[in-house]
Amino acid sequence: MEKVCVLGAGSTKYGNLADDSIVDITTQASVAAIEDAGVDPKEVKAAYISNVFGVADKQVHIGPVLMSNLGISDRPSLSIESACGSGSVSFREAYANVAAGFYDCLVVTGVEKVTHTGTEWTTTYFAYCSDFFYEGQAGASFPGLFASMARAYLTEFGATEEDFARVAVKNHENGFLNPKAHLKKRITIDDVMGSPVIASPLKLFDCCPFSDGASSVILCSEKFAKEHGGDYVEVSGSGRGGSPAALQGREHLTTIPSTKIAADAAYKMAGITPKDVDFAEVHDCFTIAEVVDTEDLGFFRKGEGVQAVREGRTSLNSDISINPSGGLKSKGHPIGATGVGQVVEVYDQLTGRAGERTVKDANIGLTHNFGATGASCAVHIFQGV
Ligand SMILES: CC(C)(COP(=O)(O)OP(=O)(O)OC[C@H]1O[C@@H](n2cnc3c(N)ncnc32)[C@H](O)[C@@H]1OP(=O)(O)O)[C@@H](O)C(=O)NCCC(=O)NCCS
Repeated sequence: MEKVCVLGAGSTKYGNLADDSIVDITTQASVAAIEDAGVDPKEVKAAYISNVFGVADKQVHIGPVLMSNLGISDRPSLSIESACGSGSVSFREAYANVAAGFYDCLVVTGVEKVTHTGTEWTTTYFAYCSDFFYEGQAGASFPGLFASMARAYLTEFGATEEDFARVAVKNHENGFLNPKAHLKKRITIDDVMGSPVIASPLKLFDCCPFSDGASSVILCSEKFAKEHGGDYVEVSGSGRGGSPAALQGREHLTTIPSTKIAADAAYKMAGITPKDVDFAEVHDCFTIAEVVDTEDLGFFRKGEGVQAVREGRTSLNSDISINPSGGLKSKGHPIGATGVGQVVEVYDQLTGRAGERTVKDANIGLTHNFGATGASCAVHIFQGV
């Protein structure tokens, strides 16, 4: 297999991008990544596009439109949908194609544009990503499903709702330092505890927002990166996993099997253990998810994730910086873009461009992104060179 590297990255702001079309923001992020890598568009051999609800902005099959805008309409593209995990799954497929030697340079772009559709539409359509027959149709949208996990965690491990609130406070603290973040504001535990209940025990500030946005990276072979020059980071591990689609099929509500499967594969490929990871961008669609993720990824033992948050061990430049970008909670969650956006953050961190939110002396970063309540998952590990 070829060694695979990230050679450049770009992103739009996340948030409400009502003035631009889905094609506009896809192109903006892709052009930013191409310019950042310093490659000629003609060197880009193919595109991987992750998107879930292009239909909401009247454009599906976005790849050929992007390629036409880039002036390389003869190049192939592939659209990938894997709910909120679309970005990392698309990244994985692009990775596999470069590793296999099919292409030496690709663009991987994730995009979503939904804020113009309103809360009712978005909540309903997002619920189509659950096991709709058993969950969405019965009235359990994502806040409700993650609330079930939160309730189980509170009962099983003696955690408190304030513990979950601390996750939100930390991620908003990091997101405040991120110029591209959707909810760029500092909050307190009282703000979280006093915010409206969305699905008990989760409150408004325990939830990620609905966001628009696009993120893009240039992926290439190590040979291409070396010949080309410029800052690059190596993709040293890649793993995927699955879980029963509906929560009722799971043995436990406080663990996500697909995370463990994907992480084990990625650690094995990279030849490292969780202790070697300096920082991680994890899927914190709701505060409970970040706690469960950090345990399933092996950073903390089961039930000890909340203790770690209480002790500030996941804050920026502590034991392990979790979500230095602000995470889905504060940076935002444009669902098709999120997994690629996490790679953008890791690239920025490992190439020394993360500004005030820099994780000091970091050399190994991890991304973790899943679809729905973790029915599908991908984990990637990156190493500075
Ligand atoms: C929690 C949620 C229902 C709130 O949506 P909403 O009721 O439509 O909120 P609105 O857009 O009307 O915004 C109302 C206010 O709350 C703020 N807000 C919205 N979502 C927020 C969030 N998640 N966290 C903090 N503030 C939020 C808005 O900025 C706005 O503030 P303002 O009045 O100062 O401008 C929605 O964000 C949600 O469902 N989030 C989860 C998304 C999801 O499930 N994603 C997939 C995960 S697997």
